[in-house]
Amino acid sequence: MTGRGATTVWHEENIKRTFEWSAGAIFAIPLNVSCQHFNVSKDEPVRLLAGTNMPHLMNLFHNEDFIFRNPFRFHDRFSNDADYFRHNKRLTVRSWETNLIQDVNAFPLDDYPMKGKGVRIMRFGIAGTTYGCHIQEFPVGSRSTFHRHGPGAIVTVTQGTGFAMVWREGEERRRFEIRPGSIYSPGDLMYHGHFNTGHTTMRHFAMRGRSPKYSQDRYRTPLHDMIPFEEEPPEIHKEYLEELAENGITEAVSVVKE
Ligand SMILES: [Fe+2]
Repeated sequence: MTGRGATTVWHEENIKRTFEWSAGAIFAIPLNVSCQHFNVSKDEPVRLLAGTNMPHLMNLFHNEDFIFRNPFRFHDRFSNDADYFRHNKRLTVRSWETNLIQDVNAFPLDDYPMKGKGVRIMRFGIAGTTYGCHIQEFPVGSRSTFHRHGPGAIVTVTQGTGFAMVWREGEERRRFEIRPGSIYSPGDLMYHGHFNTGHTTMRHFAMRGRSPKYSQDRYRTPLHDMIPFEEEPPEIHKEYLEELAENGITEAVSVVKE
């Protein structure tokens, strides 16, 4: 990832607020404000990856004027506060509220042992949105368990190398290699797991589901539809350990329960 830039947001009657970002930044535009992006690097392109719940809105209202020309101000979300993009607050363990993450690979995460030994995570409530996102980390020699859910999750690898494995019930398992910049989307009710086979920490940024702030119930329940490590086909972990050994990685921390 390369490039750096700035984004300006405003309500028409107020002065504009601008914040800067560089490769690896995560931010959300407050709902229904005007915005403009600038590439401020001299000779590098910038790419932005955006998540949105626009399809839901189109399906719900099927009226483009209501959606695109609606003057309503969500002052509860953005009131032209000069410190808006410096806001940072822990919500609970494994969840954080902010409006700008400067570097997806540097943000401190919390332990997430239910998902795998050594695995770390932080879920974000960002810009008051109801849209969910999180950063997840797998140290050298670690992997996740498998789980599944509905469609629409977007996973972007931001650091490290490894593979993802997916399958639907009754279908053959498939794996594909991942590296920084890889983007994948597990399909509806498709089991998926993430495996670090490299010599550095692996991280990804995922957009999915609902914000931890506005759907607390979603995160009070245990991980739904997760396959406990002890119940998954044993050849998966065996092959993973063999691959780690081939890569000269001996410090496997991948056993989920001791
Ligand atoms: Fe998932």
